[in-house]
Amino acid sequence: MLSSLRIASRRAATARNLVAVRASSTWRNVAQGPPVRITEAFKADSFDKKINLGVGAYRDDQGKPYVLPSVRKAEDKVIASRMNKEYAGITGVPEFTKAAAVLAYGKDSSALDRLAITQSISGTGALRIGGAFLARWFPGAKTIYVPQPSWANHAAVFKDSGLTVNKYNYYSKDTLGLNLEMMLGDINAAYPGSIFLFHACAHNPTGVDPTEEQWKKIEAAVKAKGHYAFFDMAYQGFASGDVDKDAFAVRYFVSQGHDICLAQSFAKNMGLYGERVGAFSVVCANQSEKARVDSQIKILVRPMYSNPPIHGARIAAEILNTPELYEQWLGEVKEMADRIITMRALLKENLEKLGSQHDWSHITNQIGMFAYTGLTPEQMDQLAKEHSVYATKDGRISVAGITSENVGRLAEAIFKVKG
Ligand SMILES: Cc1ncc(COP(=O)(O)O)c(C=O)c1O
Repeated sequence: MLSSLRIASRRAATARNLVAVRASSTWRNVAQGPPVRITEAFKADSFDKKINLGVGAYRDDQGKPYVLPSVRKAEDKVIASRMNKEYAGITGVPEFTKAAAVLAYGKDSSALDRLAITQSISGTGALRIGGAFLARWFPGAKTIYVPQPSWANHAAVFKDSGLTVNKYNYYSKDTLGLNLEMMLGDINAAYPGSIFLFHACAHNPTGVDPTEEQWKKIEAAVKAKGHYAFFDMAYQGFASGDVDKDAFAVRYFVSQGHDICLAQSFAKNMGLYGERVGAFSVVCANQSEKARVDSQIKILVRPMYSNPPIHGARIAAEILNTPELYEQWLGEVKEMADRIITMRALLKENLEKLGSQHDWSHITNQIGMFAYTGLTPEQMDQLAKEHSVYATKDGRISVAGITSENVGRLAEAIFKVKG
């Protein structure tokens, strides 16, 4: 038996070793990343009428997270069918990917039988697979142009995928709308055969979408320079309330002969945020190309996460493939879009009632979850510090966080900082 003296001296030696290990920790060079400011400041604020307009998720008119009734029904059906929990294939649940393709491209699309498609970890995962696929197989320069501004994660995702990220002009701070001339100029000036990322609808963060006529000009410019179009469709149905209207750009490009690629997300339009349901697809020239692209997508996905989760995809498949549920879902998407459109109108109306002399028509002209208010970073700071209204510094507010109850207070706060 060890004497108590020996035990104590062994313990002391272990402690010394641990200190030595800590002093030369493997991770000593890891730099601290920046804090997520809105969330932290919002949490720390004890005011009971504080407003959080920084979240990228839909809230109902009580400010609560919303589970679509069609999703509840579909989920109940999925659970009741007591399916097994076996792995999906590398490219996911086929009933889901087939239906997702029809939703995006349209049931009569020429793309459907030459489409390589894989389920993805929501929209972000789709962009990541797309970035990796282009980095490995795009025949031209591995440079992708994203709009200025764009969803902040675009540049990060594409950079981490191995692409070089450049920007093209998109938004005019003067008109608070689309700067089509500058955008077309940048498309023309880019090295021929470059990759261009387009938000299919409900541009994040500006809420500014090209009209159908403007999309036609953009398509012509892309074609003239032999560029390649990558569409990010994170809000199909969520913008206008109509899934076909919101897919206009995607379908128009395909109809004009572009073999686009597409990232789809079901986070917003089905409210399946945390279930991470999405798809990445590539329109190919023919069946044999599709088979080759399919095989390479599998080669990319397998070492990343092997195969995707099944539960959310089963729910989405149930909705998309059951006619009554599909009709119900279309109605619910429209309700969400309409609530957002109503909140935009109410905010503008309240600002005008307060006597604001500014032209707030951009709030109602913009579309989708976000509004780009045109407020400066200093004014956004003031909103947070003096009025407990939290959103991103670039002046973007999530309209989905506005309710009939808080819209009056929000308008007052904006009026006080902007006039
Ligand atoms: C433009 C855009 N693309 C993609 C995404 C991806 O979202 P998710 O990964 O949740 O589907 C978002 C989410 O906010 C977005 O705004």
